[in-house]
Amino acid sequence: MNFSPETFLNKIAQTSPSPFLLSIERAEGIYLFTPEGRRYTDLISGIAVSAVGHRHPKVVQAIKDQLDRHLHVMVFGEYIQSSSNQLAEKLASVLPGTLNCSYFVNSGTEANEGALKLAKRFTGRTEIISCKKSYHGSTHGSLSVSGNEVKKSAFRPLLPDVKFIEFGNPDDLNQITSFTACVIMETVQGDAGVRIPSREYLQAVRKKCNDTGTILILDEIQCGMGRTGKLFAFEHFGIVPDILTIAKAFGGGLPIGAFIADKKMMQTFTHDPMLGHITTFGGNPVCCASALATLNVIEEEKLLSQAEAKGKLFEDCLKHPAIKEIRRIGLMFAIDFDSAEKVSAIVNKAKEMGVICYWFLSHPNSFRIAPPLTISEEEIRESCAVILKAIDNS
Ligand SMILES: Cc1ncc(COP(=O)(O)O)c(C=O)c1O
Repeated sequence: MNFSPETFLNKIAQTSPSPFLLSIERAEGIYLFTPEGRRYTDLISGIAVSAVGHRHPKVVQAIKDQLDRHLHVMVFGEYIQSSSNQLAEKLASVLPGTLNCSYFVNSGTEANEGALKLAKRFTGRTEIISCKKSYHGSTHGSLSVSGNEVKKSAFRPLLPDVKFIEFGNPDDLNQITSFTACVIMETVQGDAGVRIPSREYLQAVRKKCNDTGTILILDEIQCGMGRTGKLFAFEHFGIVPDILTIAKAFGGGLPIGAFIADKKMMQTFTHDPMLGHITTFGGNPVCCASALATLNVIEEEKLLSQAEAKGKLFEDCLKHPAIKEIRRIGLMFAIDFDSAEKVSAIVNKAKEMGVICYWFLSHPNSFRIAPPLTISEEEIRESCAVILKAIDNS
C-alpha cells in the first residue's frame, strides 16, 4: 500500500491548490475508512456517485460475475455483449418510449459531447443554447456549453455558436429559434448550488423546443438516478427530453455514462459520416454489469420513495441561525451561509469530526450534501448533530 502524501502531491496531477487529502483504504455503505482505521461518514457520495452506498454487495457480486465472463472485447457498437444488452433493455423499460436507445460512454462529459454532436447531426444546425451558471463537464465541448466564465477563459477559443440564457427565466426562451440545434440544460442545476426550476419553466422550455424543432438535452449526470426522489429528475416536471445524459451514480461506483435518445435520431451516427461517434471503452462490460445491478438495487430497496422523507429529515434536523437558506430536492442539498470563509471552516471542522461535506464549483457560499440514498434515519440524525456542532465551532 502507498498512502504517501508526497507521492500524491508530486506524482499525481493536482487540480486544486488545496486538495481534501483524505487517505481511503476501504469504503462500505455510507462510510469511508482511513488506513489508520478512522471512519468518516460520506455525505457527498464521491460527488453524487455512490447512490446505493459504497460497495453494495449486489453491485460487487455483479462485477465479480462479469469479471469471470469477460472484460473488454471490442470497441463500442460492434459485438453483441450480454451486459450492455441487458442494461439497454433495463433503461428502455424505465424511461419514456422515445428514450429507447442508449449510447454508452465512460463519463458525464463524454455523454454530453455525444449528445451535442447528435443534436447537430440530426438537425443540421449549429447553434447551441445553454444556461448561465451551468456545469456540463471539462472537455472542450462540454466546457464550451458550461456557464462559468472563470473556468473557461483560459481555454478559449472554445466551440463557436453557443449562447447562454438565464436558467429559470422564461423571457430568455425567445432566443431559442429555428436556427437552434439544441438546448442543453441540467434539469436541476447542481454545481450552481442546487437550483430547482419551476414546472412551468421547464414546460415552457419543452414547448419552445417543440415549436422550433430544437432538440432538448437534459443533463441528469448529477441529479439523475434517484438523487431527487424520482429515477430521473425530469419526471418531477412533466416533460421528456429528446436526449438524456446520465453518468455518476449510473455506474454504482464504476465509470460509465450514457446519452439516450430515440433510435431514429441515434441512427444518424451510422451514415454521413459512418462511425459518427465512436469510443473504445464505452459500454465496458464490467461497468454495464455494475450499472444494471445499481438500477436493480434502487428498485428492489425502494430507494426512490424514501429519498423525499430522508431529505426532509435532514432539513428538519439542520436548523441553525447561521444557515441562510437550504435548497433541496430529494437528497440533493445546497446549504447557504453568509460567506465562503464560513463554509470552508464548517466543511473542514465537519471533516475533523468525521463527516464529509463538500463545496460547489460555482457557489462558494454553500456546501453540498448528497449522501448515499441508502443512509438510515439514525445515520441522518447523527450526521446532522455533527454538522450543527461544526457550525457552532467554526
Ligand atoms: C451536471 C453535470 N454534468 C456533467 C458533469 C461531468 O461529469 P464527469 O465529471 O463524469 O465528466 C458533471 C460533473 O460534476 C455534472 O455535475
